[in-house]
Amino acid sequence: MTAFGTGEERSGRAGGKVILLGEHAVVYGVPALAVGLERGVVARVLAAETEGHELHVAGWGVVVRPSDGTDLGRAFMALLEASGPAVLGRPRVVHAHVELPPGGGVGCSAAIGVAVARALDPAASLEHVMLRATAWERVFHGNPSGIDVSAAAVGGCLRFVRGEGVRTLVTARTLHLAVGATGRASSTKVMVERVAALREAEPARVGVSFARITELVATAVAALAAGDLEHLGEAMNENHAILGTLTVSTPELDELVAVARGAGALGAKLTGAGGGGCAVALASSEAHALEMVREWRRAGFDGWTSASAARQTDASRLYPAAARP
Ligand code: PMV
Repeated sequence: MTAFGTGEERSGRAGGKVILLGEHAVVYGVPALAVGLERGVVARVLAAETEGHELHVAGWGVVVRPSDGTDLGRAFMALLEASGPAVLGRPRVVHAHVELPPGGGVGCSAAIGVAVARALDPAASLEHVMLRATAWERVFHGNPSGIDVSAAAVGGCLRFVRGEGVRTLVTARTLHLAVGATGRASSTKVMVERVAALREAEPARVGVSFARITELVATAVAALAAGDLEHLGEAMNENHAILGTLTVSTPELDELVAVARGAGALGAKLTGAGGGGCAVALASSEAHALEMVREWRRAGFDGWTSASAARQTDASRLYPAAARP
């Protein structure tokens, strides 16, 4: 007898993301703007029963088992436990095919969590998938705002507020993006702790920065609805400068941003936690985005282009956040 009664394997998908505005501030309840990427993660669950759960990440040559002492193993266990006895009690082999760089600020770990949660239980509701992937994310991030999981699960362009939820945004135009990689992985947990320490040392200054980011997000939401990419790009540029004052940029990230702006980016900034990882640039067309990637390659960096991915799920109404403060 096959495990699923159909002889079919199950699969689940989730997208990567870039944060256009509001990373770090979002941890403290400031709104943020994210865009789902076309690249993501596909997880397949084999129909055959096994002795114990296993997660294979093919491209990384990694096999993990729940609580095998690795972070991935602990995260897998947390996801299985959050999925309930029906999933936990039926051991499965899960294969994840990952198209995103780990530690790159493009939501790789959240996308794996969402794809695995979906593959293990395709009938799970959006909120349950988000809760299960949030349990997975907590192992890596300690204090995730929930934006990565929301973007991985929902896709499209979205506005996220911690403790409030995620809302997909209506955009007048497809966004053409270029993502440039420093090639240096960074730890979101470490970078979030760095901003927390700065906020404790200089609450007034950091508070002013967060208030300005709130305004930038409001401007950008209106700009997106109107198809006004110039104002969206200006907001991204200013957000990058603010992230620099929060000490999360690096010389490589600043160089990626400078090269993109030199190639006519409408806006460019680091994306995600910083300290390494990636920068994102807003282009006026697909050809323009490709041109920016070429310029990055000339400067010794890697990069790729992505249009804003279509949303995967209808969250046009406010959807409850999986991660509560
Ligand atoms: O995991 P990253 O690098 O995409 O960063 C997530 C965004 C942060 O605001 C830095 C952390 C969070 O939980 O929101």
